[in-house]
Amino acid sequence: NVLILDFGSQYTQLIARRVRELNIYCEIYPYHKIPEDLSGFKAVILSGSPFSVRAEDAPHPDLSQIRGKLPVLAVCYGAQYLAHFFGGKVEPSDTREYGRANLSVIKDAEPLFENIKENSQVWMSHSDSIIDLPENAVRLASTSDVLNAAYRIDGEDTFAIQFHPEVYHSTDGKQLLENFLVKIAGTQQSWTPGAFVDLTVSELKEKIGDDKVVLGLSGGVDSTVAAVLLHKAIGKNLYCIFVNNGLLRKNEFESVLDQYKHMGLNVKGVDASARFLDALKGLSDPEEKRKAIGNTFIEVFDDEAHEIKDVVYLAQGTIYPDVIESVSVNGPSVTIKSHHNVGGLPDFMKLKVVEPLRMLFKDEVRRVGKELGIDKELLGRHPFPGPGLAIRILGDITAEKVRILQEVDHVFIQGLRDWMLYDKVWQAGAILLPIQSVGVMGDERTYEQVVALRAVESTDGMTADWVNLPYEFLQKTSNTIINRVKGVNRVVYDISSKPPATIEWE
Ligand code: XMP
Repeated sequence: NVLILDFGSQYTQLIARRVRELNIYCEIYPYHKIPEDLSGFKAVILSGSPFSVRAEDAPHPDLSQIRGKLPVLAVCYGAQYLAHFFGGKVEPSDTREYGRANLSVIKDAEPLFENIKENSQVWMSHSDSIIDLPENAVRLASTSDVLNAAYRIDGEDTFAIQFHPEVYHSTDGKQLLENFLVKIAGTQQSWTPGAFVDLTVSELKEKIGDDKVVLGLSGGVDSTVAAVLLHKAIGKNLYCIFVNNGLLRKNEFESVLDQYKHMGLNVKGVDASARFLDALKGLSDPEEKRKAIGNTFIEVFDDEAHEIKDVVYLAQGTIYPDVIESVSVNGPSVTIKSHHNVGGLPDFMKLKVVEPLRMLFKDEVRRVGKELGIDKELLGRHPFPGPGLAIRILGDITAEKVRILQEVDHVFIQGLRDWMLYDKVWQAGAILLPIQSVGVMGDERTYEQVVALRAVESTDGMTADWVNLPYEFLQKTSNTIINRVKGVNRVVYDISSKPPATIEWE
């Protein structure tokens, strides 16, 4: 197990993902919450930070239980922190050092640099520089602009690097992490999807015993993988509920429900379309629509959960990015959880919670899903928002508008699949605009709806670029939509990126 101490860098999660890609388990802790018992950890990585070590409110944790006792790799701010506090000197650089640089290794006998090419490209992102190394430190590498690009404390397994090995632009970064974690710290590369499945299934068996568990399936990757894992552990005692809110893609409810049944899951499909549509009647404001859908879901799910006798647990598909306590750049963050009024909670929310995926990143959930034999198409699905088509119909929702958008979306998504573009796109969908425009069909003037198509590339949805889809594909798709979907006479393509736009229009 590897401990990653987070000083608030935007790259901290990336460090964790790279470590996991090496099949090594790691956990992120905020710098002000170092675990008291470190006996389970074999190595520590100190992350970067937006702070300057010289700033008064910068992270200055006590590392006395770590330094010299466990192998340490200090990255960027971490490297500066060690220098600043152990007799070195850190000062602002004349220019902010940002971007690619080439590493010149001085001590090539060091195991940290084994199998790393001379002049290997590394990624720099810092505005302070280490002017003097800390006591007993030996310089290991430089770049043309950064003299102290890497150092080691003599006689300790304490290493520090100014560049970011976790960023893809550091071409040998993963090798360096492997050198540190495997060669120097001796960690095992045993964190594989297979090992995770075995361990989790036995833990779930132990924890749950003969109790009953209820889980809401959404058709998405996380809830599906969570369900299959639980099913493996407790079989029929897992009760799955799949709610049709009437705002899913065309035929999605029927086909996904069918898939779930084929996987052997004990699943109940609940068609609550009318109830959702009723709750949405007359609502145009996006947040009000979201709230109405959320509340209706809770009511429907609660009704269904009551049908299961003596249920003890509620299972959720929570994943690691939702769990990590983030370090705020405005000082140590206190994550304030909203306090629910326990008396007013629906009954299922009072159940004990089980979250089998809470330590996994999204890419690991997919790998585990593959290990569990879940269909490739299901695992490769684009993300789809919980409120579904309701936030892609601008303005109020009616059954007719849902029908139109389902048809348009179907042509678009099926087209992406047929043209082998689906897997190149991170998320795609259609938006029904609340305007009509003039068109001509045959000899007749039409006055019908406009739809927008949206396709983006992204890694986590935080930023996104619109996808340069082939003109031919767009042309064909537009023709098919206008010819086939009654009520639409104009198709536009959204060419805005996030930021400043968002992925969804509402
Ligand atoms: P935005 O529009 O904020 O979307 O750029 C980023 C990602 O979040 C999804 N999204 C939602 N997912 N409930 C959800 O479950 C919501 O209310 C919601 N709003 C946006 C969106 O589809 C994209 O993947």
